[in-house]
Amino acid sequence: MNDTTTSYVQWFRQSSPYINAHRDKTVVIMFDGDALLHDNFTRIVQDIALLNSLDVRMVLVHGARPQIDAVLERLDITSQFHDGLRITDAEALRAVKAAVGMVKADIESLLSVGIPGTAMHGSRIRVVSGNFVTAKPLGVIDGVDYQHTGEVRRIDHQAITHLLDQYNVVLLSCSGYSPSGEMFNLSLEDVAYHAAVSLRADKVIAFGPDDGLYTPEGDPLKELTCRQLEARMSDFTDETDLLQASMAVRCVRQGVPRVHLISYQTDGALLQELYTREGKGTLVSQEAYDQLRPAGIDDVAGILELLAPLEEQGILVRRSRELLETEIHRFHVIERDGLITACAALYPYSSDMAELACVAVHTSYRGTNRGQRLLEQIEEEARRRNINKLFVLTTRTAHWFIEHGFVAAQISELPPEKQKMYNYQRNSKVFFKSL
Ligand SMILES: CC(C)(COP(=O)(O)OP(=O)(O)OC[C@H]1O[C@@H](n2cnc3c(N)ncnc32)[C@H](O)[C@@H]1OP(=O)(O)O)[C@@H](O)C(=O)NCCC(=O)NCCS
Repeated sequence: MNDTTTSYVQWFRQSSPYINAHRDKTVVIMFDGDALLHDNFTRIVQDIALLNSLDVRMVLVHGARPQIDAVLERLDITSQFHDGLRITDAEALRAVKAAVGMVKADIESLLSVGIPGTAMHGSRIRVVSGNFVTAKPLGVIDGVDYQHTGEVRRIDHQAITHLLDQYNVVLLSCSGYSPSGEMFNLSLEDVAYHAAVSLRADKVIAFGPDDGLYTPEGDPLKELTCRQLEARMSDFTDETDLLQASMAVRCVRQGVPRVHLISYQTDGALLQELYTREGKGTLVSQEAYDQLRPAGIDDVAGILELLAPLEEQGILVRRSRELLETEIHRFHVIERDGLITACAALYPYSSDMAELACVAVHTSYRGTNRGQRLLEQIEEEARRRNINKLFVLTTRTAHWFIEHGFVAAQISELPPEKQKMYNYQRNSKVFFKSL
């Protein structure tokens, strides 16, 4: 295999857990009118088609602000705004109807393309739109009558769920109807929020002009909890950032597990965000995503707490605080919201051999691949140091190691220093794994 093929094969293998994880999940994808005007939008539609073929259940929500502005300009109508919201009078409503109708038709036609060589070829996507959004007027605020500017009253989630069950992609616009038959101009974020919450969506993906949110110093914010994002709210000055950040907070507070903010300008951002570990934007979630990282001196107390019950049961050899402090650089930990939930250590013995030690997962977090993730991390680190053989000593966990590629070996195969320290009373079994 040449280099390109190898990296392609590796990428495909690495993305397979994500393909399984996202299958049959409900995702609300929102994009504003500017995204639609961008050259990259055609490729975004192709990526949406790819997601559809990977059985992701999708509800698309579109905005149309620049398109509405263009129609108003053509009709020579000046729109009034108050607090950043358009006051939709009867004339402006005509423009809203025309623009929203055009945008909807454009999206539907883009999703119907079947160009060979793209994800669209042979994919037959069925897009369904309809009167799924019930709206009510925003009314009079601070003496200002917003007229046909409205807010979402409810979403017909049962009808949408039924359509998703039948493998349709559902398209919602930034408009809705009241039971009295009036049409209302709605904010994109409001429709996306209500759709996600009422459908109990697994994710919201919001396309904006940037690769997610940034600190005032210009550093990307890759992952944030809802609480962390709320604390940063005053950092955002850009209108889109503010709208998206508050929408993300509202969604997560109401039970949507994850909101991803990505750029409509970056080719492949949607695929990178969903199918790679690093992602390509900002992820806002209910609680901190598990962090696997090298341990530092501040983790000693957390590791001691994790190990204590296992040492008491004789599963692990006792380690003093002093010893752990001097050896902390050998450890990796998984942390969740400040709690050390798992750890493992790598002790090199010779230029090509090292011990995998102290693999431990908190009892409440077992069976969720933390052990495996740590093992993979330690193996990666060992390979980086040109170590090609790992060994482990265990009394009670032999089968877990066997299931992860370790093979039983003799004490005499251990490095001489380790043989000298071998505790015959403990009678641990020895396992090796070639890397
Ligand atoms: C072994 C250990 C690290 C695995 O962590 P984990 O996060 O639960 O592991 P994973 O989620 O990656 O794998 C879970 C699988 O391993 C199995 N497993 C866990 N402990 C096992 C053991 N002692 N023997 C055999 N299989 C075991 C589980 O049954 C589960 O399998 P299943 O999904 O088929 O039911 C964890 O159980 C632990 O901390 N044990 C106590 C400490 C220890 O024994 N450390 C090793 C000595 S160095």
